[in-house]
Amino acid sequence: MERDPYFIEGDADTIIDQLSLLPDQRKKYRLIVTSPPYYKHRKYGDDVRELGRESSDSAFVKRLITLLAKCRSLLRDDGSLWVVIGDSRRNYGKLLIPHRLTAGLVKEGYILREDIIWYKRNYIASGSHVNFSQAYEYVLFFSKRANCFTNMDLIRTKGNEAREGRNKVPPLNMIQFGPVLPDKKKIAHVMEKITKWTSAPAKETLPSTSEIARAYGYDPEKYCPTCYRKFKRHATRNRIGDHKHYPIFAVCNLRGKNPGNVWDIATKAHHGNEHFAIFPEELVERIVKFATQQGDWVMDPFSGRGTTGIICRKLKRRFVGIDLYPYNISLSRRNIKNVSAYD
Ligand SMILES: C[S@@+](CC[C@H](N)C(=O)[O-])C[C@H]1O[C@@H](n2cnc3c(N)ncnc32)[C@H](O)[C@@H]1O
Repeated sequence: MERDPYFIEGDADTIIDQLSLLPDQRKKYRLIVTSPPYYKHRKYGDDVRELGRESSDSAFVKRLITLLAKCRSLLRDDGSLWVVIGDSRRNYGKLLIPHRLTAGLVKEGYILREDIIWYKRNYIASGSHVNFSQAYEYVLFFSKRANCFTNMDLIRTKGNEAREGRNKVPPLNMIQFGPVLPDKKKIAHVMEKITKWTSAPAKETLPSTSEIARAYGYDPEKYCPTCYRKFKRHATRNRIGDHKHYPIFAVCNLRGKNPGNVWDIATKAHHGNEHFAIFPEELVERIVKFATQQGDWVMDPFSGRGTTGIICRKLKRRFVGIDLYPYNISLSRRNIKNVSAYD
């Protein structure tokens, strides 16, 4: 089983059962990430074992919970499970499949870390006059234990306020990427003045935001590389009253901004005609970068055309993919062949 990437053809239920029996597979994976088929949405082939064809939505949810609960034993103690999943409707009403799945997996011992909204900017509008078009899916992030491997620095975003027109993109020479000679004495001085300020003397006697920025080693007229605001706007004098929780001087993380729990990523519906319902490489890449490091093992139990495997190869992670259909397995092998690792 140490071959990499490793694509296994068959029913994920049976294969996960078999893998769970092998001692060398237990606690092996840092990440299990997948997008299972929607309930009664489409047919990928003619195999009756295909997930999504159960006689009821309850049977579908139960089967998925059972399978993903078994995956827990394959995860390392600091590993995580990520499920990209959307809801289905019956008689106009939503079936709450992501919610029921979440409740079931939490009952099985997983910790729900985040229910991220993947906003599909280029969603396909439905013809409905009574329901809204489905423009998002959930990206459910569960950890096996409280102590979970994460690497936020690899997925930070930069200057998105500027992109949205809130702040202009400053010239490169006006961006300051780190503090220059912060002055501990001056910091203590401004801190003391601000924290001790009551109502007299007049507020104007407090240090200016530019003075505060300078004390911390930032040119007040230069810009933060993350939010593109001037550093004098990172400083506050309102440490009093309602604003006690504000730090006096707060720079954004200079490596970029935490991407938040709404991910705006366009769908890539087709890769030629090879497979439908693939997830975009950008989405998997964000998850793999955040949840693993080089050399880690990653699994996708519904691997389709092998998108997760492709990203793992690019990012130097080791990969096992499972799919019911031989066509998808050979497609995945072909797709991954010409992919080379990033430097
Ligand atoms: C939504 S697609 C996954 C696409 C994949 N994320 C990608 O980017 O290519 C779901 C996949 O689950 C597979 N599948 C359905 N039932 C299965 C089962 N019981 N065991 C394993 N794979 C199954 C289908 O063949 C399909 O390729």
